Amino acid sequence: KIEWFEKARLGIFIHWGLYSATEGYYNGEETCGIVEWIQSREKIPNREYERFAEKLSADCFDTDAIADLVKYAGAKYMVFTAKHHEGFAMFDSGFDDYSINKKCGVQEDIVKKLTDSMRSRGIVPCLYYSQGVDFHEENAMGNTWDFERPETERAFESYFNGKCKYQLRELLTKYGDIGVIWFDVPWGITARRAKELRKYVQAFQPKCLINGRLGGDTSDSDFLCMGDNEAPYGRVSVCAETAATTNDSWGYKRGDKNFKTPKMIIELLCAVASKGANLLLNIGPKPNGEIPCEAVDILKSLGNWMQINSDAIYATEASPFISDFSFGWVTQKDKNLFLFLKDPVRKITIYGLENEVLSADSMAGDKVETNAACGELSLSLSNVRFADDVTVIKLVLDGKPNVKNILFQQEQNYIMLPCC
Ligand code: GLC
Repeated sequence: KIEWFEKARLGIFIHWGLYSATEGYYNGEETCGIVEWIQSREKIPNREYERFAEKLSADCFDTDAIADLVKYAGAKYMVFTAKHHEGFAMFDSGFDDYSINKKCGVQEDIVKKLTDSMRSRGIVPCLYYSQGVDFHEENAMGNTWDFERPETERAFESYFNGKCKYQLRELLTKYGDIGVIWFDVPWGITARRAKELRKYVQAFQPKCLINGRLGGDTSDSDFLCMGDNEAPYGRVSVCAETAATTNDSWGYKRGDKNFKTPKMIIELLCAVASKGANLLLNIGPKPNGEIPCEAVDILKSLGNWMQINSDAIYATEASPFISDFSFGWVTQKDKNLFLFLKDPVRKITIYGLENEVLSADSMAGDKVETNAACGELSLSLSNVRFADDVTVIKLVLDGKPNVKNILFQQEQNYIMLPCC
């Protein structure tokens, strides 16, 4: 059941909630930090926080246009924040009236529309649900300013068996097949509760995957969640995903203009794929649901790059080499080895590859000359037209890549140690 996920390599995260309506401002002042936590950081009482609902609308949340963009970017799945830590349902929940439908007068069910739009374009819909933290609930974790009872003395079970399970059941029964339930921040989720929640999800949808932030131990989830924005050095031996931001905040923050360049994002995708992991790249719609133009540009640039290079990303395996290269990264698929070059170079050398190279070309079709001797493979790249972002070279080998797993000296004479 995990195969589609392992092959996907690229997903789009959408953080949209009541926090987006704050735009990062409280009492007229810009706040610091990621905006999904604004209520907690500023200790905004629920009664006051609810008023941000007046500023949230779905007027420009065009799910078809968003799905087109996600598809163009080359993503194979999409994760939407159905309920974040604030406890506000972005779907038409029957649990209570703390939802975009009841509080913002939105008629249609956003999650229904979005999951339908995604599915009709072949993108697997997935949903984020904050399972332990819920600032709106006195028995959940997180809110210590409205509810004074210490978290350890709360009737967590009544929230867990109440709102948490009620809404998860809604998400798993009203919107067709869901690829992943993406849990986050496992406060209150003991080993027993983690197992119970996993069973609960699977009872509705046996094929639904569970990410590594459920709580419990690794056997309770289907893949590892690496740190936010993280691409570890060396390869990762388990199925994994890195969630990453396009700027600093996940949810929309008007003052956060610290967007990464398309090149940085493409490099992150290559780095993560070379570890055998997926990149889940985030966008944060505005209070009216519009996607910020900077994020649109990033996704379009990513899509342009993927049009030429996606074969080096989809369904690939981690680099066969135990350490990274100074020129960039490596992935493999069948008899192919893909080399990702961060910057234009005339020549690169690879050590430890035991195969014969049958052909070497850039993905854009330029010939690369190769010369193999004494365990060293040199590639001469003088005919290659380098892209502004990342240029990919495809080597076709005489068999599956076979690499001597030894540490080797890089071209600049240093030795990079792999992580274990
Ligand atoms: C962190 C943040 C959370 C965000 C998540 C995305 O857990 O606390 O707000 O949704 O990262 O990976």
